[in-house]
Formats: sequence, C-alpha cells, structure tokens
Amino acid sequence: MKNVFRISKLVKPFNKTISIDGDKSLSIRWALLASQAKGKSKSVNLLKSEDVLNTLNCLKLLGIKIKLLNNYCEIVGNGLNGFNYTKKLTLDAGNSGTLARLILGLLVHSKNKITLKGDKSLSRRDFLRVTEPLKNFGAYFKTKKGKLPIIVRGTSYPKPIKYFERKGSAQCKSSVMLAALNTNGSTIIKAKKSRNHTELLFKYLGIPIKIKNKKTYDLIEINGLKKIKPLNYNIPSDISSGAFFLVLTALSKNSKLVIKNININPSRIGILEILKLMGIKIKIKRQKNYKGEKIADILIKSQKNIVPINCPKNLNSYAIDEFLLIFLVAAKAKGISYFKDLSELNQKESPRLIWGSRILNKMGIKTILRKDSIKIFGNPDLKINKTIVIKNFLKDHRVFMASVIAALTFGGNWKIHDKDSINTSFPSFLKIIKKIDKSID
Ligand code: S3P
Repeated sequence: MKNVFRISKLVKPFNKTISIDGDKSLSIRWALLASQAKGKSKSVNLLKSEDVLNTLNCLKLLGIKIKLLNNYCEIVGNGLNGFNYTKKLTLDAGNSGTLARLILGLLVHSKNKITLKGDKSLSRRDFLRVTEPLKNFGAYFKTKKGKLPIIVRGTSYPKPIKYFERKGSAQCKSSVMLAALNTNGSTIIKAKKSRNHTELLFKYLGIPIKIKNKKTYDLIEINGLKKIKPLNYNIPSDISSGAFFLVLTALSKNSKLVIKNININPSRIGILEILKLMGIKIKIKRQKNYKGEKIADILIKSQKNIVPINCPKNLNSYAIDEFLLIFLVAAKAKGISYFKDLSELNQKESPRLIWGSRILNKMGIKTILRKDSIKIFGNPDLKINKTIVIKNFLKDHRVFMASVIAALTFGGNWKIHDKDSINTSFPSFLKIIKKIDKSID
C-alpha cells in the first residue's frame, strides 16, 4: 500500500546540519493579520502545508487577493473588516484547529451567514471554547454540541469583552484577540500562559496592546478599530517540526545535529527545557531577535543515560505539541517518568495522550494512563524485534511522525499508515529523514 510507511532499521549514526520548514502558528497568524491590514503584505518561507494552504483558500473566498509563488507570498488586505463576499459562504478549515478557531474571531463582524466546516478529525474537536467567549462580542453561532460545522453570523457593532482563558490555549486567546480588533473599546483577557505569537505580532504591528506578565497568567488589554499596517515577514522555522529531529538525535547512537535558524520563542521551547531535565545536552548558538521572535541555531548530541522526569506542569503548554516525542524519550529513561495535568492532549488532532500510551505499549513499554496523566516505565535496554502496526489515528500528522522516530531509534518492523498526513504541518519531514540517512525511504 502506497500510503503506508514501512521501516525496519535503525538510523545510522549521523553528524548533520539541517533547516526546517516555516512555523505553522506564525504562517497562519501572518496570513490572517495580513488580511486585516490595509495594503500589500509579503512573506518568505511561509509554510506550504495543508493547514496554511487552507488558510489562504478561506481568505480568498472572503475576497482577499493572494499571490503564492515558490518561496514568496503576497496578501493584499482591504483593512479591518474588509472581507468582501456577497453570497452565503462555506469555509473549509480542513484539519486545522488553529485556522478554524482564529478565523472565527475575525468573523464576529461578518455580514452574511458563513458556515465553517472541517475534516473528520477537526469535526470531533471542541469549539464551545471559542464560540462561548465570541458570543459575548455579539456574534451568533449555530452548532450541535460545540462541534463543526458551525454557522456564524456576525454583528455590525462587536462590543469589547472581558474573558478569562483557563486552559492555557493560545488558540482560544488568539481568537478573542482577533475579534477584539473590530471593537470600539478595550477587551481585557486574563490568559493562562501559552504561546505568545499573536501578542508579539500585535506589538510589532503597533496595534494598541498592553500586557502584564504574572507568574501563571498574563493580563492582556487590546484596543480595537486601529488601522493595521502591512507586514513583511520572513517566517522563522518551526520548533515543533524541529523537535522530531532533536529527539531522533537524542535517542540515536553517536550522532550530532545542528538545526539552523529556528524559532526559540520562550513560550515554545518547553521541549528544550524538558530534554535538558532528562539529561540531554543542548546548546543554543547565534541567537538573534526577529520582529519580536527569537531565532537561533540548536546543537544536540545523542545521550546514552536518560534521566526520568516528574514533568513540571508549568511546561505543559510550552511543549503541548511535543509530548508524543517526549514520551519516547521517557521510554528510554532509567526509571519511571510522570506527566500530569495533560487532559488538553486528548483534545488534539487525535486523542494524543491515549495515542502516546498506545504507541509505547505496542513497543513493549509499560504505562499507567489516566484521563489527564501518564506514568511511563522507561527501559534503557529496550530492543524491539516484532512487527508494530500504527493505523486508525485520525491521520494525526504528529502520531505518524513520532512513530517514524520511534521506529528509527528503537528498532522493530514498523508499518505506519497515512504517510500523507505529514502534509498537514511538515511536508518535507521524510525528505529530511532521507538527508540524515540516505538508505531510508
Ligand atoms: C496552536 C496552539 C496549540 C497547539 C496548536 C497550535 C496555535 O493549541 O496545539 O498546534 O497556533 O495557537 P491550543 O491553543 O489549543 O493548545
């Protein structure tokens, strides 16, 4: 079968330098904000994955002019609330929670009814988490139990709101921040810590935003109805994609890797903090600032002795997309690792806490899985000699890619279904694997 990736060998020791595709969160945010600016915004290194292409398609249907060439994208925004469409529209967010939740924020001002739909995975995910706060702006949402499809009808005069984001969800926070752009007055958000790309872009664009950083949450105040200037942006590389290769290196024998020019925004590098706590040596070099974000080269080496971790829960949101990989590291640790307060992981493209445990169990690693936590009984001597089949995982791109990393580092005869799921977030994933070890295809 063409869409099944078969692999039954360990990666050979390597010493490589790689570059990673553009960041998904930043690519989607750049496109959505460019659509609200007055004039032409340009980007290079925009991630050309399905989630981002779906973002561009939705914006085109909303009347935004977009030109996408090889490594270059141009968006001509009509200004705030400048969506231009006449008939009833259906927007398809595909697999992307970020697109679906963030664009709903921009639609609180929509003139006509718009239907928002998504694929099978997205249609089982929760949207009440955004429709509830967005309703308070005055918009109307019709949904069955908070799932897609959702019908939105906006209001001509969205009013500012007060909102307490308790999940540590950057998607919920950003959805409300985007809605706030269209209000006359100040929206106040108290948000449990999560990735802060939207805040940094707002600041860079000169949108009136005040932020007070407290220990466990941030207080954000946004004033709406200010003209947004176009944004020329060189999208930094995605640490969540880079993480697959960091863990590949950490778990391989006698290997070294440099990842060039990757985003090390402090709210995204939970993976680096956690790997360091587990005894893995990582160096950051050539750090620089780019329009509010931090970019650097990351150097990492293989590590024989991995230390188990009682993972501090304040790192959860900063490593939210990397836990499948972190669980693989815990599988090789000498002792029991514990990860808690992680119910949000089961709200992802697939129930990832369950899938993390399932992959480890198939590999022969014992776990104790609860609704929001997992204990992993690591085995540094694990060698897999059996066939492992990974399928029916709702085409979750990160389940596919984490399984490939497990196969290349623990051995065994793996059959991993839904290879094309990589196109959601990281189309060049298998090409980079091949660059690291030519014999893998
Ligand atoms: C994202 C936020 C996270 C993350 C997702 C991208 C974003 O989701 O899992 O892949 O770009 O804001 P939550 O905010 O729901 O945790």
